[in-house]
Amino acid sequence: MARVQFDHVYKRFNKTEVVHDISLDIQDKEFLVLVGPSGCGKSTCLRMVAGLEEPTEGDIYIGDRIVNGVDPKDRDIAMVFQNYALYPHMTVFDNMAFGLKLRHFPKADIKKRVEDTAATLGLENLLKRKPKELSGGQRQRVALGRAIVREAQVFLMDEPLSNLDAKLRVETRANIIKLHQNIQKTVIYVTHDQVEAMTMGDRIAVLNGGIIQQLGAPQELYDHPANLFVAGFIGSPSMNFVPNAKVVSESNSATIILEGLGRIRVPQLYVERAKAAAGKNLTFGVRPTHLEDANIIGKDGIEQSSIDAAVDVVENLGNELQVYLTAGGHNMIATLDPRSRVSSGDKVRLYVDSDQIHLFDTDSGEAIF
Ligand SMILES: Nc1ncnc2c1ncn2[C@@H]1O[C@H](COP(=O)(O)OP(=O)(O)OP(=O)(O)O)[C@@H](O)[C@H]1O
Ligand SMILES: [Mg+2]
Repeated sequence: MARVQFDHVYKRFNKTEVVHDISLDIQDKEFLVLVGPSGCGKSTCLRMVAGLEEPTEGDIYIGDRIVNGVDPKDRDIAMVFQNYALYPHMTVFDNMAFGLKLRHFPKADIKKRVEDTAATLGLENLLKRKPKELSGGQRQRVALGRAIVREAQVFLMDEPLSNLDAKLRVETRANIIKLHQNIQKTVIYVTHDQVEAMTMGDRIAVLNGGIIQQLGAPQELYDHPANLFVAGFIGSPSMNFVPNAKVVSESNSATIILEGLGRIRVPQLYVERAKAAAGKNLTFGVRPTHLEDANIIGKDGIEQSSIDAAVDVVENLGNELQVYLTAGGHNMIATLDPRSRVSSGDKVRLYVDSDQIHLFDTDSGEAIF
């Protein structure tokens, strides 16, 4: 069983704390993504699992064993580094075989493993080439292959796609997902790219300032971000935020008033929570995709939930319009149906899908709903 656990792990470099009280239970065969902005402590977490850094406090388990102090080579892990380097003078085959040779695997076994792994990664016709004869994406796959050929229990991947152009990144992303389905091993995958996190992870841990902000399935984080940080980090384009929101309580309902923008009806499920937060300093949140041009919506309720805005810029992506707006002095983005004919300079009334709204305590950052 290759379960990996962080148990109240702290890491300090001199006096600077870069990982703060992380507890995380990664299941056997799970694909866990650690995501967060640059410098938030992702690589440090991964390096502690690998044994390249020791926790200052707390324990790390692989399987049932505490691995604090255990040498990296005795941990049954394989790691793909942020800045991988292939051996330039060796062929693809030898690059992939290198770790196995070091461990004195039989020759026939090495050949079989390298060829099988190469086939999984679509490298079977490149085994005789040197790294300089490969494209960036092919090199990246060799680096992956070199790690997975070992059949370790746990795979650690630190931004393995960061050197690839956008198209190759999407392709290799799919390759890694397929690979994980085939090899059925625990993967901890580090990225600062929320799209990679959303598309690849069974679960995502969002890290900021060395602290786990939220842990959950991708859809859960998207639908129910726990705080302003996660709400702004997950989803592209980012969630729109409007500060100084007021809650007005009625007998069986509640309404959010956005000064100078409009009013939004609180969904029934959250009326009690909204009422309880009425006196607080509040921030309203809605994703660009949950706004629509009221003119093309045949729905009722537009009067109850809408925002008035001025159109600054319209980007037509063919299947949707990315519309940059100003509303009550705030910048917003709306992803609108292309049937909307808005153009820059227009005033537009935006229908707000009030089942998809968010409200945050501005001071603590915590989500109210
Ligand atoms: N050996 C070290 N000594 C001192 N500080 C370090 C050391 N390694 C990392 N740090 C600091 O710890 C913090 C976290 O670094 P880490 O490499 O884990 O970030 P990261 O989330 O992987 O960032 P990136 O996305 O840029 O790779 C950073 O502020 C970094 O400067
Ligand atoms: Mg890093």
